[in-house]
Amino acid sequence: MSMTYAQAKEKLSEYGQEHVLRYYEELSEKEKEELLSQIEGTDFSLTASCSHREELAKKGRITPLKAMELPEIEARGEEFKKLGEEAIRQGKVGAVLLAGGMGTRLGSDAPKGVYNIGLTRDVFIFERLICNLLEVVESTKTWIHLFVMTSDKNHEATAAFLREHDFFGYNGEYVHFFMQDMAPAADYNGKVYMESRSRISTSPNGNGGWYVSMKSTGMSRIVEKAGIEWLNVFAVDNVLQRIADPVFTGAVLQENCDVGAKVVRKNAPDEKVGVICLEDGRPSIVEYYELTKELMEAKDEKGNPAYNFGVILNYLFRVSALDGLLEKKLPLHVVEKKIPYMDETGALIKPEEPNGYKFENLVLDMIHQLESCLPFEVVREREFAPIKNKTGIDSVESARALLLQNGVEL
Ligand code: UTP
Repeated sequence: MSMTYAQAKEKLSEYGQEHVLRYYEELSEKEKEELLSQIEGTDFSLTASCSHREELAKKGRITPLKAMELPEIEARGEEFKKLGEEAIRQGKVGAVLLAGGMGTRLGSDAPKGVYNIGLTRDVFIFERLICNLLEVVESTKTWIHLFVMTSDKNHEATAAFLREHDFFGYNGEYVHFFMQDMAPAADYNGKVYMESRSRISTSPNGNGGWYVSMKSTGMSRIVEKAGIEWLNVFAVDNVLQRIADPVFTGAVLQENCDVGAKVVRKNAPDEKVGVICLEDGRPSIVEYYELTKELMEAKDEKGNPAYNFGVILNYLFRVSALDGLLEKKLPLHVVEKKIPYMDETGALIKPEEPNGYKFENLVLDMIHQLESCLPFEVVREREFAPIKNKTGIDSVESARALLLQNGVEL
């Protein structure tokens, strides 16, 4: 039994959200029950942050953090690779695919991973990722546990697609799905939108909730049982992604850091990637829209840009370091987005322009909670082909060109 109508009304009035119950009397018994249960499970306190968005984004003192660059990686590559492969063979490395996002910029209703980027044959995004992981499985002769984070919005479609395709040759026993949490979406005044008369508009609560969700869904028990000590977290949309990369793994192990972050050399001072740095002496990432002109122009002792490495959402986390973080709250990001909503006539509107805020925690903020981070340079043209849009920068088109350049048949 969820909360009563009176309890729901009281909870909503605390946050100025009484409109959620506007159509209550017209709903069926089942819908009433569903709405009350959704109200009970929703954290409306998030909506209060709409009024102080700027304050939330305040940063500490930013200073440079040295990356391990390509010449050093090349020189020590064999040593790293040996160490990394050994850890993989011992089952100490797992992979976490972040696929809970809505991919709104791509504009497909299906999960991003099922998008077909082929030209003369089918090449699905999920397939590309699994192919890349299979290379490591083959070279180490070891199956690597792959945890797939989905959300309420795409779970069924994701799991069904991967099963239908027999996990593109992966061993299904090593694939584990789990769902992240949802957050309400609100208009510019912080009033939550309704998706229907009986449902509040919700969206996935950002990729920062992955470890909390792994705990709450029982994935951590699998991690523990398998003896996994490192988790390689990566985004669904980079089709050149190297996963459980032995050289990267070995380097992070050798440097004894709590986290490793793959980075690329920025191609322009104002490129739209988060930049790795120190913040008040701890590792951190400054988002591109927070990067001041002063930081963009700062130089190191060799005269190179001091903040020259951007993250590509591929991190290797030490599991034991993550357990200590569960108590700490991640900062909240209030992000402007296009939110489908029900209008006065009851019709569902899919806006063309942003019309409100979503509330998200981001995986990049976890870096700042850890003691040590190894930024590890990779060659952009070989490892970074993100698909955010249909055309233009970071698009299906640009990713196709990069895949062809890397010898992938499309
Ligand atoms: P993006 O920041 O590109 O977000 O996600 P998105 O929601 O998929 O795309 P847009 O902004 O609506 O176009 C980066 C990675 O984080 C995952 C995505 O699936 C992608 O792999 N992600 C994002 C989650 O797993 N959960 C979230 O709540 C958000």
